[in-house]
Amino acid sequence: MSSATGIPAVQTRSLSRDFGDMKALYALDLRVERGDLFGFIGSNGAGKTTTLRILSTFLTPSEGQAEVLGMDVVRGAEQVRHRIGYMPDFFGVYKDMEVLEYLDFFGACYRLPTARRERMVGEVLELVGLSAKKGALIGALSRGMQQRLGLARVLIHDPELLLLDEPASGLDPRARIEMMAILQELQKMGKTIIISSHILSELQTLCNRCAIIERGRLIYSGPIRGVRLGPEQIRVYRVRLRDGWDRARELLRQRPEVSAIEPAEGALRVSLTGPEADGSLLSSILVGAGLALQELREEEAGLEEVFLRVTRGETQ
Ligand SMILES: Nc1ncnc2c1ncn2[C@@H]1O[C@H](COP(=O)(O)OP(=O)(O)O)[C@@H](O)[C@H]1O
Ligand SMILES: [Mg+2]
Repeated sequence: MSSATGIPAVQTRSLSRDFGDMKALYALDLRVERGDLFGFIGSNGAGKTTTLRILSTFLTPSEGQAEVLGMDVVRGAEQVRHRIGYMPDFFGVYKDMEVLEYLDFFGACYRLPTARRERMVGEVLELVGLSAKKGALIGALSRGMQQRLGLARVLIHDPELLLLDEPASGLDPRARIEMMAILQELQKMGKTIIISSHILSELQTLCNRCAIIERGRLIYSGPIRGVRLGPEQIRVYRVRLRDGWDRARELLRQRPEVSAIEPAEGALRVSLTGPEADGSLLSSILVGAGLALQELREEEAGLEEVFLRVTRGETQ
């Protein structure tokens, strides 16, 4: 979805943030279009939270600028806050409050008039699938439900842009899938969503675009499909042998198609690059050398593999 005005949802220019001597963010140029479901990916300590806190006006840049919906996050902080919903990576919920009371409280914080507040509370509860839990105490909700309630809370003033800091972390797979389905629904409603994660595969089917940061620097920005289907396509195989592991490693290491060999729970994880490199190549190398191959199975090579390659290149 493109906006009528052509103003991006987020635009940063040489955005930097220091903590003492430490550069948490360094000259970040990030652009997120309206309507994007944008993945913000990086390992722990990469600078995701710092970036999201600057975009949501809770932290000021040390250098450079950040604009949210065309407004500067420092000079226009007040207006920015009214048009975004920020869900921190850790937020306290009021365990002794009821679901309805809690949302009504936040609606009041945004000074929504009573009638509109009631309507919005009903709508967001419906959206996150908690209508039946209106009267429940928050402390009695499951972790997944509490997380969805946190999402409902940041939707109460109908923001255009959502900044979600690792909203799926600590959730079980089912709760995670539920959360992702809600985010897709929100995107269909026209919201722009930025979601951070250090678990790369969880964003792969969800997001249309992504940025990868490492040590405060942007190392990739573009379509998430572009990452997967780049020229450096990688296949990963799980290989198990009866014996002769050292010999197998030695043989594999000599092959230009083999880009990585790692131990993996009684097996080897072998990454291959190049269009011709596949399982039959591996089996012919190993069986051809007289090794007893007990298992050869292709694994899903996701963003992880690409990410590892990209970050390795960056940090070497
Ligand atoms: N308030 C702070 N004071 C000092 N260092 C901080 C502070 N906040 C973050 N950092 C440091 O900045 C870096 C980036 O942190 P953060 O943005 O939280 O990363 P991420 O969210 O990607 O895990 C880390 O090295 C972290 O220790
Ligand atoms: Mg973080």
